[in-house]
Amino acid sequence: MSYWNEQLVIGNRAYPRFIGGPLDGITDSPFRKIVRKFSTEELLYTEMRHVACVSNDKGRARTLDFSQAERPLNYQVSASGTDYVERACELIMQAGVDAVDLNIGCPARLVINTGAGSAMMADLPRLEAVLKLFRRCLTVPFTVKMRAGFKQKNAIDVAKLIQDCGVDALAIHPRLQTQMFTGNPDYALAAEVKKAVNIPVIISGGVVNWATAQAVYEQTGVDGYLIGRGIWSRPWKLHELKEHSQGRIYKVDSSLILLSALEHLDNMMAYYGEKGLYAFRKHLPFYIKGGLHASQIRSKLMISQSVEEVKEGLREFFRV
Ligand SMILES: Cc1cc2nc3c(=O)[nH]c(=O)nc-3n(C[C@H](O)[C@H](O)[C@H](O)COP(=O)(O)O)c2cc1C
Repeated sequence: MSYWNEQLVIGNRAYPRFIGGPLDGITDSPFRKIVRKFSTEELLYTEMRHVACVSNDKGRARTLDFSQAERPLNYQVSASGTDYVERACELIMQAGVDAVDLNIGCPARLVINTGAGSAMMADLPRLEAVLKLFRRCLTVPFTVKMRAGFKQKNAIDVAKLIQDCGVDALAIHPRLQTQMFTGNPDYALAAEVKKAVNIPVIISGGVVNWATAQAVYEQTGVDGYLIGRGIWSRPWKLHELKEHSQGRIYKVDSSLILLSALEHLDNMMAYYGEKGLYAFRKHLPFYIKGGLHASQIRSKLMISQSVEEVKEGLREFFRV
């Protein structure tokens, strides 16, 4: 069987190689539901939530407010140390997920100031204690998403530690914390990480279409592809990648984009109530990007207070 026909095995489960990555505020429950319409088997990561938020959530923060129809789901958490880990793992597993992911790659100041995210990569004894505790608490597969390093590249040492602590798979976004989300991902480093460990290695960074997936495979030899910004307002992206990898052609036309945008808006209204319209504004420009008169329609729809007006505007736009 060829590489592209084989599946990615994480613990006791197998998945297609293309995975829906975590984008905070973007790949939320309403969005994941549309992705599921296109892709039934693919693993989807949730957005990152700190274990303290999960443990203390009495319902208001909605940290566990997702639908079972979104599964298979990899629930992503961050942690600053061993506090709250046990309770969070218990609640997440009770909610029903297929895996739990620990983020040790987030570069955001608010996150690293608490010692979580990529700051963990600069403190290996603390990281080891946290990894071992997660492993003890979890009865579902456990994954870790890391960076190239915090201020300095130490991904190989961290990957070996992750493997030694019994983690089932790791994802690497091969940039330093200081690079945030820009600059070229260090694919050579990802290739070294792949060679250094036996657990599956998933790449995150720069895979947006079939051509980039193939190029990244050639440079890294990784086992899976976490699609981040490439899936933003393109809920069909994992399906598109799978079709191309199987030698089939997949074309996205304007009626598919329109249907996705309308359904996305409906899902957001159902999930967030009246705030759904405002939350949809971060997606709207991406749906209409590049089209004729996109900037005019964007200016109009971005200030609209009416769901019906936005829907009608989208229908008109795609009719042009
Ligand atoms: C708006 C935004 C939100 C993100 N939120 C998360 C997150 O919650 N958890 C996480 O592990 N990575 C997060 N990331 C990082 C992405 O998952 C990914 O690692 C990074 O964007 C590189 O991949 P890409 O080139 O496919 O986007 C976020 C990135 C962006 C741009």
